[in-house]
Amino acid sequence: LGREALEEIKQADSVKALESVRVKYLGKKGPITEVLRGMGQLSEEERPKVGQKANDVREEIKEKLEEKTEQLEKAALDEKLKAESIDVTLPGKEVKQGARHPLTAVVEEIEDIFVGLGFQVTEGPEVETDQYNFEKLNLPAEHPARDMQDSFYVTTDMLLRTQTSPVQARTMETFEGQGPVKIVCPGKVYRRDDDDATHSHQFMQIEGLYVDKNVQMSDLKGVLEAFVQKYFGADRSIRLRPSFFPFTEPSVEVDVSCGICGGKGCRVCKHSGWIEVLGAGMIHPNVLEMSGFDPEIYTGFAFGMGVERFAMLKYGIDDIRHFYTNDIRFLNQFKRA
Ligand code: PHE
Repeated sequence: LGREALEEIKQADSVKALESVRVKYLGKKGPITEVLRGMGQLSEEERPKVGQKANDVREEIKEKLEEKTEQLEKAALDEKLKAESIDVTLPGKEVKQGARHPLTAVVEEIEDIFVGLGFQVTEGPEVETDQYNFEKLNLPAEHPARDMQDSFYVTTDMLLRTQTSPVQARTMETFEGQGPVKIVCPGKVYRRDDDDATHSHQFMQIEGLYVDKNVQMSDLKGVLEAFVQKYFGADRSIRLRPSFFPFTEPSVEVDVSCGICGGKGCRVCKHSGWIEVLGAGMIHPNVLEMSGFDPEIYTGFAFGMGVERFAMLKYGIDDIRHFYTNDIRFLNQFKRA
């Protein structure tokens, strides 16, 4: 019996199989228990001998069971360690790296250029009051120019700003009538436009503002020309065309010379050889005064540009919607080393 049991232990190839061997030989219904239970029927001399033998066999089986259990567990552990081992010589997995969004990159580039020209970078709220978005920019409630910008109103006197120009008023106020003020302000703006290749209900602008004693139109032209040549290339020039904004007087639209066809006519610059890139002008005396500056002492200029437009012109992007749809194939093209 003992030998039989030991043979079965040897054959067992799992902890589970071992357990059934244990139950079979040492369990309550097993042969050893049976022998021990039948002791009463044996004679006085046989009893100790049989008892001794049964105990010996039981102890041996127990011992072998433990030994084998240990063996099996160790084998299982070895197996597991082998399966989980890491081959450090294998090539690593490629880590996919993102890149700055092209609009972020262009904003940072433009900021850098203006910082180089002595401007500081500020920000203002996207949800703006009617006061700052219009009234402090010389557009009273009934002013017809308010129709130029169809707006998203949040309440009767709060709206998503239609331009970054309210930051002009907000910034000037903090200076309490003391110049110079020299800032640029990037940010999102919102207009009720139908989205198409060149229009978006949400886009980005960068506002610029310079207020000091003796700031002149020639300063505006010089700063913008320096900026455009840094951004598009030293071979570019600008021209100013008369225009109208309620918060500047005089107002201008600024064109940059086309860099693709050199003015001979192409898809981008059409026939004229010039592309409109921003609006600007000398700050209206009413605006200076409302923001706490004495227009007899201070003058200033302001400008506002569309960031998407600057990005599209520089990188030859033909649809403004590419900036917002987050197509990886589009974004990947702006990875830089
Ligand atoms: N805020 C004007 C616009 O959105 C641009 C502008 C800014 C014009 C500053 C003049 C001065 O069209």
